[in-house]
Amino acid sequence: MDVRPTKLAIIGAGAVGTAVAYASLIRGVARTVALMDINTSKVTAEVLDMSHGLEFIPRADIIGDDDVSVCADADVVVFTAGAKQKPGQSRLELAEATIGLTKKIMPGVLEVAPNAVYIMVTNPVDIVTYAALKFSGLPNNQVFGSGTVLDSSRLRFLIAQHCDVAVQNVHAYIVGEHGDTEIPLWSSATIGGVPLTHWKPLPGGEPIDAAARERIQHEVVHAAYKIIEGKGATNYAIGLAATRIVEAVLNNEHRVLPVSTVAQGYEGLDDVCLSLPTIVDRGGAQTRLEMPLSDEERAGLMASAETLRGMQAKFGL
Ligand code: 2OP
Repeated sequence: MDVRPTKLAIIGAGAVGTAVAYASLIRGVARTVALMDINTSKVTAEVLDMSHGLEFIPRADIIGDDDVSVCADADVVVFTAGAKQKPGQSRLELAEATIGLTKKIMPGVLEVAPNAVYIMVTNPVDIVTYAALKFSGLPNNQVFGSGTVLDSSRLRFLIAQHCDVAVQNVHAYIVGEHGDTEIPLWSSATIGGVPLTHWKPLPGGEPIDAAARERIQHEVVHAAYKIIEGKGATNYAIGLAATRIVEAVLNNEHRVLPVSTVAQGYEGLDDVCLSLPTIVDRGGAQTRLEMPLSDEERAGLMASAETLRGMQAKFGL
């Protein structure tokens, strides 16, 4: 039996990296959480602050450094380092800066944690995931992106709110790009096992008709813009979403999560990273589910893939 304590390393101690660390500590995801950032005083202060709360959470250690050696032998590495999205800026506009950064950081981390599962969170996450796969040479399952796990939870939240049911009873996915071209899969969405297409409003409730679905889709796609406008970054929900993915890996959960992986032969898609419901286990991102798609959903997914492929080509990936 493998009794080696688990280790999670997080690259980047900004708003997102620290939210992943904090959520992971509270949920008791790993025995050691390591934060790495080139800003020495920032990473030292964040680690000190979190250390002072260790008494109140499941047993864990938090360590941090400006040197990549702090990530040594990590089981999972979460990448959050990258350019910050400014109000009104799209995720795709960050591509050049974050691809460069990934290329610079990846080799050092790989050297100290060659067996880790790599979860890319930095935006534009699909492009960064594709770049990380290329730069690392690791197998497709071992490097994947947080993709539309967060967008899907936004979708589930809004459906739950509209229909007045618990978010945990809503199953619905956003697929494609984690960004402006993402699309909701309404045709396979369910509430408590009832297909959304057959949902009858609860007493006093509103139907989830075309107008409601359009409003919800718009809110999901524009959620990050709204939050960035108000507070400069999104961090809590992505911190929880990334932590959920880390848990699925470390606990070998075989959990279905819409993470970003290379679509190879899926619905005719090839050589492009995008999100689809995928089994996540100790080996990383494994089999993609064959989702039933309506014609509209299929067309949306293809258009999203085209946008991403165009960006990959633009940056010579
Ligand atoms: C988010 O969707 C900005 O990608 C980040 O919250």
